Amino acid sequence: MRIDILTLFPGMFQGPFTESIIKRAIGKGEVEIHLHDIRDYSEDKHKRVDDYPFGGGAGMVMQIGPIARVIDKLKSEREYDHIIYMSPDGQRFDQKEANRLSLSENIILLCGHYKGVDQRVRDHYITHEISIGDYVLSGGELAAAVVVDAIVRLLPGVIGDETSALTDSFQDNLLAPPVYTRPSDYNGWKVPDVLLSGNDKLIDEWREQQALERTRQLRPDLLDE
Ligand code: ADE
Repeated sequence: MRIDILTLFPGMFQGPFTESIIKRAIGKGEVEIHLHDIRDYSEDKHKRVDDYPFGGGAGMVMQIGPIARVIDKLKSEREYDHIIYMSPDGQRFDQKEANRLSLSENIILLCGHYKGVDQRVRDHYITHEISIGDYVLSGGELAAAVVVDAIVRLLPGVIGDETSALTDSFQDNLLAPPVYTRPSDYNGWKVPDVLLSGNDKLIDEWREQQALERTRQLRPDLLDE
């Protein structure tokens, strides 16, 4: 899979993409992530990429020119399954969308800043918009990092234990059951006996029932879906 990220702040991805699962996925060649600094595509002598909104009002708007030039260049090189604008206006990101996007060959994520991008970018280039929640971030970068993380960990071969991603919370609209590890008794706080029983059938049943109970208590809305 190839992910192209269009941003004014490529440095913001340094931490998230150079540690843990994403770092390993890149190392194994399971994903290629290319960061494009939109400013490099400015034709302005001061490398400007934003301007005042027509009609007045507060804040600056990212211009179409530099963004269009990056996207046109990328589209001339390969086909893209999705060209996504990270925006609080977008569809709320969830596990189902992560699963769907993880089946893509090539995707572009566009990160907005200031008051957002010129509407014509959204009208003519963007296939859909994603929000990671009903709050406004200072830019799309952190949201894009969240989306990339959720997608990349689903790619075959990325997580060591192949079944692990499938047993995550949300994969079947249920939260994950509680997990424990050694010691089995910490100052009198004991691990449930069933997990030490060695009886796989009983353990599976217990986990299912716990997942259901936890979902009922913490996220009853998931059971309505
Ligand atoms: N950009 C700013 N806020 C955002 C959000 N909540 N989700 C996605 N992109 C954003």
